[in-house]
Amino acid sequence: MCGIIGYTGDRDCVGIILRGLERLEYRGYDSAGLAVLEDGRVDIRKAQGRLSNLAELVKASPVRGNIGIGHTRWATHGEPSYINAHPHADANQRLAIVHNGVIENSYTLRQGLAQKGIAFISETDTEVVAQLLGYYHTGEMLTTLYRVLPMLEGSFALAILDRERPDTIYCARKGGPLIVGRGAGGSLIASDIPAILSYSRDIFFLGEAEIGAVTPEGVSFYDSLGNPLEKTSVHIDWDIDAAEKDGYPHFMLKEIHQQPKVLEETLRHYVDMEKLAVRRERMPFTPAEAKALRRLTLIGCGTAYYAGLMGQSLIRRLARLRADCEIASEFRYSEPLIEADEAFIAISQSGETLDTVAALRLAKAAGRPVIALCNVIGSTVAREADQLMYTLAGPEIAVASTKAYSAQALTLMILALDLAHLRGHMTTAELKTALRALGEIPGQAERLLGQKERIQYFASRHFNCKKIFFIGRLEDYYLAMEAALKQKEISYIHSEAYSAGELKHGPLALIEEGALVIALATQSRVLDKTMSNLLEAKARGGKVVAVGQSPTPELLAAAEVWELPAADERFAPLLGAIPMQLFAYYMALQLGRDIDKPRNLAKSVTVE
Ligand code: AGP
Repeated sequence: MCGIIGYTGDRDCVGIILRGLERLEYRGYDSAGLAVLEDGRVDIRKAQGRLSNLAELVKASPVRGNIGIGHTRWATHGEPSYINAHPHADANQRLAIVHNGVIENSYTLRQGLAQKGIAFISETDTEVVAQLLGYYHTGEMLTTLYRVLPMLEGSFALAILDRERPDTIYCARKGGPLIVGRGAGGSLIASDIPAILSYSRDIFFLGEAEIGAVTPEGVSFYDSLGNPLEKTSVHIDWDIDAAEKDGYPHFMLKEIHQQPKVLEETLRHYVDMEKLAVRRERMPFTPAEAKALRRLTLIGCGTAYYAGLMGQSLIRRLARLRADCEIASEFRYSEPLIEADEAFIAISQSGETLDTVAALRLAKAAGRPVIALCNVIGSTVAREADQLMYTLAGPEIAVASTKAYSAQALTLMILALDLAHLRGHMTTAELKTALRALGEIPGQAERLLGQKERIQYFASRHFNCKKIFFIGRLEDYYLAMEAALKQKEISYIHSEAYSAGELKHGPLALIEEGALVIALATQSRVLDKTMSNLLEAKARGGKVVAVGQSPTPELLAAAEVWELPAADERFAPLLGAIPMQLFAYYMALQLGRDIDKPRNLAKSVTVE
């Protein structure tokens, strides 16, 4: 969601802040702003809409300085507007702050301050924090923070300038991420790695309830009681170019095309493909633990949840283990029955999704082990879990997740195979055969991408359709869910996923001339059934498409077919995801949508 960047050093901060904010654009925003300390005063520039508006404003009304903070805002309290954009100042214009997250008790705090005579300019919870810091200022920012932060309920990542300390950016977090790096002749803070990656590769992660005081010379960290903390940095070896479009018109298209490489790298990370053996040291369960395990609960949101459903299905089927995937935002409030021999997997690309973090904490508080399946090194999910399985997708910039989904689904497939083997439901020879088949997937994905023109052409003829149904059974149903999400997210066409067998129980009434019905059909044991459901939709006027392997001549005659390479069908959903992503992409392209930054959405959902 919102993005934060800050710089203090010997260079002019404005260019560094604007470039950093550009790198955070993918998180989603509706206004942007920056504050600079110059000649003993706080100078603020803000603009509604795109970052280019802020850049224009700064050109027309220049501001310079060696210390500053910037922000891209995604509205929560108060409409997207110039007034509500960050930074916000206190009544004396001593402080400027930017904030990610939501202060849940801001209404009460605002009323309390209003009674003390404080007048508010904006509707934001952030201004409440600025005014609190101003009102309760002790003359020294760290002690002020210890006084004010305990008043705040909810989540926050804060960066603060104080004109009386013209070399220091103060930062604090509870919930939202904040990182600190050294570079560009000074120090930088940000809410996300890409913002500062071109200046710094050795990153400090501010922990939960910690405070940082960042100066050009370095950074001091403190816990919530004011005790100094020693921290070691984490080296980030992401390719900086990975945050560029590389000639693709959109990050999403680039990331779709990166999938063969991502699948290959993730596979080789977990599997020795020469020996056809799982790398034991990288798997979360020892043989004894795998045998003793009675229940595995996977949790995630959105696409991560759909990848989890795919994992749930294969773990149940292959490893004969009770596995259940839960939506994190439901799970955390459901008073879940957590059992003594249960383990958890928290799935998150960003590692910062608030509901997933909360669900992870719930499981840990119940004393259960949590494994993180995560793409961002050093993120909250990665740090707080007991064990880590990284997905090697590299930075994913487009809001619509593609390569991270594939890496999550693949990692869960490898885990399912490992558990099946360790629990005695798969022989070593069968495991080797399965891993060999899995090794074919990256090349097959590459070949599939070579056929994208067919989908592009189809999209050019059907982009005006009003609704799309994605149907499938078993793993294909979970794939259908991901396909429908991708479509809604970026083309804004109303799309639904149904278990094909459920069509007759209601949704068939919605099928009429002009509806598109796409059947995902990678699972041979239910192929005939799904195909007859598809033809029922055709008989009611739907335009039908089948996505699967080795189509029969009858199917080719009856439907538009997007053929998948002949893969082991346990892993074929990985291939089926690619035409679904391309389909969403090309529909959105035809409709002129803002593909990488779809309306109302953010890359990392750090509020409820
Ligand atoms: C994916 O296309 C979505 N943008 C969204 O559903 C996302 O997967 C979800 O918000 C979870 O994010 P996470 O993986 O970073 O936790």
